[in-house]
Amino acid sequence: MKNEIEEQYEFMDKVNELNKGKELKYSIFTMGCQLNENDSEKICGMLEKMGYFRVDDTTKADIVVFNTCCVRENAEDKLFGKIGEMKRQKEKKGTIIAIGGCMMQEKHIVEKLHSSYPYVDIIFGTHTLHKLSEDIYKILEERKRIDDVIDIDGEVYEGLPIKRVDNIKASVTIMYGCNNFCSYCIVPYVRGRERSRRPVDILNEVRNLAKNGYKEITLLGQNVNSYNGGENYKFSNLLYDVNKIDGIERIRFVSPHPKDFTEDVIEAIKKCDKVCKIIHLPLQSGSSKVLKSMNRKYTKEQFITLAEKMKERIPNVVFSTDIIVGFPGETEEDFEDTLDVVKRVNFEQVYMFIYSRRVGTPGDKMENQIPEEIKHKRFDRLKALVESGISVNNQKYIGTVQKVLVEGESKNNPNMLTGRTDSNKVVIFEGTKDLIHSVIELKIVSEHMWYLKGEIM
Ligand code: 5AD
Ligand code: SF4
Repeated sequence: MKNEIEEQYEFMDKVNELNKGKELKYSIFTMGCQLNENDSEKICGMLEKMGYFRVDDTTKADIVVFNTCCVRENAEDKLFGKIGEMKRQKEKKGTIIAIGGCMMQEKHIVEKLHSSYPYVDIIFGTHTLHKLSEDIYKILEERKRIDDVIDIDGEVYEGLPIKRVDNIKASVTIMYGCNNFCSYCIVPYVRGRERSRRPVDILNEVRNLAKNGYKEITLLGQNVNSYNGGENYKFSNLLYDVNKIDGIERIRFVSPHPKDFTEDVIEAIKKCDKVCKIIHLPLQSGSSKVLKSMNRKYTKEQFITLAEKMKERIPNVVFSTDIIVGFPGETEEDFEDTLDVVKRVNFEQVYMFIYSRRVGTPGDKMENQIPEEIKHKRFDRLKALVESGISVNNQKYIGTVQKVLVEGESKNNPNMLTGRTDSNKVVIFEGTKDLIHSVIELKIVSEHMWYLKGEIM
């Protein structure tokens, strides 16, 4: 019996046949996290197999795909604005409009699309992405709108074509979904329960990437350190096995959960020389009271102890983090606890967010919501603290020698090259183009807030 993905390849061939000699084009907009970007690479892979060529200019496209995110509110306005703009093009040249991703798993969004944007052709969810080829085939054949969203957790499908955006760094999704139900977060409702890919499939994908010249791998999942490959094969086992693959020079992973940094994971990070020693440790809040109502399962003290333990065990480790300000019930004192943790842990990078109410989450139903003005003021205070820390932190690089993975020409200055340190800092330096895609040692000579300047030694 054919499996689902083989069937989809048949649909890709059929669409390709229908499109023969037509030079059709597609555009894609991706919102949200790296997981969504990785999903978009699969969407692009399918579209190119169907014979579409990518263009950036939407007005030239015959099919436009939106891959949406719903983790914060502002993405909704952006999406509806863009779809509104598509209406005339749709009427003029019959462009196919397909909208997928996390937001499509929310009923109220799909209802709004039906009522206000009836010209959208395909709505697909996070569990049906692999069927996009079938959906497009049906649109071409039958020209009636398709809703392809299911609520049950999708299976883990292997073998979809993929068109990667980068040729040196690649993302590899290792698990789908989330079981944590942090009370601010919509993800468990739109991505379903945790499902891990089989170790053999992940390792084969990474081996293939290495063969094709990729040097840096980012392992992706909503909660990577609870990866469960079966038969007691855990995240730490995966780190050791990816670390053994020749050709791969750097391994990163996002996003882990502080509660799942078990001894074996810490030991693996320490022992695997390719695992970058910048670890994402999402704090969310520094107040034990807020953390409890966020359902984060650790206290302020436990978080600090974990960071300190990792600093002791893993030489030169640094941390990045995510912080939400203005969660319901957050008092001035609670917020100051967050500032306190930021000062004490000295994060290398902080991703800051203003709390955004998400329909269907417990946080949305909490009564003590924080007024917008206070949220913004706190956000600005946190930002000022973080930025003052960056230049101080940058100073410690000056005079050091850093291994830098050279990514290409600098966007702002084509005479210079750009790359990143193990700790993910951008380094700009003068060098010849043959260095692109190699890992070289640079002496850091100055810091400029968002980047460092280096010199070849
Ligand atoms: N409001 C603001 N930020 C959020 N995040 C998740 N949900 C929300 C929300 N409702 C942030 C968290 C998470 C990151 C990916 O997005 O910090 O770690
Ligand atoms: Fe956005 Fe979360 Fe979906 Fe990623 S998984 S696209 S952050 S809602």
